[in-house]
Amino acid sequence: MILPIYLYGSEVLREEAREVESDSAELQSLIDDMIETMRGAAGIGLAGPQVGRELRLFVVDLDPLREDLEADGEEIPEQPMVFINPEIVSESDEVVAFEEGCLSIPDIRYDIDRPAEVVIRYLDRDFNEQTLAAAGMLARVVQHEYDHIEGVLFVDYLSSLKRKLIARRLRDISAGAIESEYPVLAPLQQA
Ligand code: NI
Repeated sequence: MILPIYLYGSEVLREEAREVESDSAELQSLIDDMIETMRGAAGIGLAGPQVGRELRLFVVDLDPLREDLEADGEEIPEQPMVFINPEIVSESDEVVAFEEGCLSIPDIRYDIDRPAEVVIRYLDRDFNEQTLAAAGMLARVVQHEYDHIEGVLFVDYLSSLKRKLIARRLRDISAGAIESEYPVLAPLQQA
């Protein structure tokens, strides 16, 4: 089932999400819905808070970019990937800039500096503990999604000048005064 994506301005996007406590049929069905929602919105990552669930959980699907990424020498594990209760255990000193966007902040894209590589420990959807050394696009998306479960959005990293440039657009997004190609929920539509 495709779920509506909560837009910028939603409180749930600003909360520190809580740990997933145990596996359940509801959790597995939420994971399926999140993967379907991410793909339906042509996204490569989606975190629990973006569908209104205050949970430390996100999904990633780099398959749409696989050919290009592999041509650039990146190694992409089997997709989609599910990260439950993830923890970033180390980051490289090297920082790289790359353009980011976010399904909760439609049509805004900016270069953001982040560590080039990270090591992340998490539970997969079978609740097996995994440790992943991620570089390239995988490191990028994992860090962006990890931020979501900490209540952080990529626009938070922009300079105050750049934030002024997008202030009006952000207001429109939080008011739901935008066109979107996928189902969204603005703060006032959240009962
Ligand atoms: Ni995002």
